[in-house]
Amino acid sequence: ALVVLLLVYLVSTFIFSSQEKGEDPPGPKPLPLLGNLLQLDLDRPYNTLLELSKKYGSVFTIYFGPKKVVVLAGYKTVKEALVNRAEEFGERDPMQIVKDSNKGHGVLWSNGDSWKDMRRFALTNLRDFGMGKKACEDKITEECEHLIEQYCRREAFDTTQPMNYAVSNIICSIVYGSRFEYDDTEFTSLVDRTNRNIQLAGSPSIQVYNLFPWIGRWIATKKEFNKLTDANKKQNLELFRRLRETLNPQMCRGFVDAFLVRKQHLEESGITNSHFHNENLMNTVLNLFAAGTDTTATTLRWGLLLMAKYPKIQDQVQEELSRVIGSRQVQVEDRKNLPFTDAVIHETQRLANIVPMALPHKTSQDVTFQGYFIKKGTTVYPLLTSVLYDDNEWEKPHTFHPAHFLDKDRKFVKRDAFMPFSAGRRVCLGESLARMELFVFFTTLLQHFRFTPPPGVSEDELDLTPRVGFTLNPSHHKLCAVPCM
Ligand code: HEM
Repeated sequence: ALVVLLLVYLVSTFIFSSQEKGEDPPGPKPLPLLGNLLQLDLDRPYNTLLELSKKYGSVFTIYFGPKKVVVLAGYKTVKEALVNRAEEFGERDPMQIVKDSNKGHGVLWSNGDSWKDMRRFALTNLRDFGMGKKACEDKITEECEHLIEQYCRREAFDTTQPMNYAVSNIICSIVYGSRFEYDDTEFTSLVDRTNRNIQLAGSPSIQVYNLFPWIGRWIATKKEFNKLTDANKKQNLELFRRLRETLNPQMCRGFVDAFLVRKQHLEESGITNSHFHNENLMNTVLNLFAAGTDTTATTLRWGLLLMAKYPKIQDQVQEELSRVIGSRQVQVEDRKNLPFTDAVIHETQRLANIVPMALPHKTSQDVTFQGYFIKKGTTVYPLLTSVLYDDNEWEKPHTFHPAHFLDKDRKFVKRDAFMPFSAGRRVCLGESLARMELFVFFTTLLQHFRFTPPPGVSEDELDLTPRVGFTLNPSHHKLCAVPCM
């Protein structure tokens, strides 16, 4: 009788606790090893996930090969997880290609106390050497002048490289304390390698490698990725060496100086186990370049492409700029007086949707969410596309419609479902800097140029289909920049 009683007790507690914990989120049936790979558009997985969310709801399971992923879809669900349950959904799940070269250091792919220290330190320094001071606005304004020189050409051109150089120079000013000339090969190779690596990280072959690391030796793109990362590390070591030699602790020039000073202080106080070590310095610097250049430059290029495609909207931006600002330099302060332009920048970010699945998160503990049970350590994709295109939140989700951000009096309105920087504990660390850059670069360029398709190409022919990649870039195209004044 005792054994029977014990069995009844065990079975009932098991049933009760699993009911309390909830069921697995639903999802399509996986195949052994391949999971749901055959159902996924590997070039644009976010599109498949968006489709699946219509069938399985706002929390569902999908298998990327053997890897189980829980997808969160729609504004309400993503917000509930990332903001209201920030601790539970706030860990990072680095991909294999990242794990190869970064052993849990830096700020983008790390977790725990090291991540906390690096995030706090990076934020303080972005404030000190970046957006917190008028000085940063001046740096962006100065960079605009160099960019304008580059864009002053008669023929149609690809807007990518000059934009990448201009935006990278803002990170250089913050990180190293100085900008570089666009023909300095030390600088251009650093930027070109970073951008190539971001493209490679999004390629289907690296996606497959992330799921099946044992095929690594046959993947050429993986070798290229590692080679580029090594070259960037080597070049940074040389830059750090020069900064160390000329370091003045009373006058830090940028993030690297501030890091070296903090490291030295800690060492002098006998603290040997701090997170201020060389690997964290290197990886945080690489992270700031990787996360802070391609994203902003790509968004700006979407902005120019959309202006060329929708000339009537460009007319309205230019009319507002010339009425409110005239020919003087725009300042961040002016944003509140430029509601239409502000709405256009926000709508560009919404439609461009450049980081469609955010970066992979993972649960820090067992979680019961919306009735489902998600085990500790499960990979979670907050599907930002499903927030930025949520048809419960946006009147015309798939159309470029700046009025999404204007009220009936044509005043700018904030929208909660505007989440291109994600939200919660892992929200983009560079959001304020990026917003300042987008505003100053975009408005200054539109004061100086009218952007049009190349001769012989109509506005309709400008293609808005994004290119395959880790971030969603516009497809290859050329534009003309016709001087306005
Ligand atoms: C993370 C978007 C610019 C630094 C992220 C994430 C997104 C994002 C979606 C992932 C958040 C998540 O996992 O939930 C963007 C967009 C940008 C931009 C759309 C420009 C338009 C920048 C800039 C910097 C930066 C300028 C640096 C100066 C970072 C870092 C993280 C991050 C370090 C990782 C934060 C963490 O894991 O704690 N960004 N970003 N980003 N971003 Fe940005």
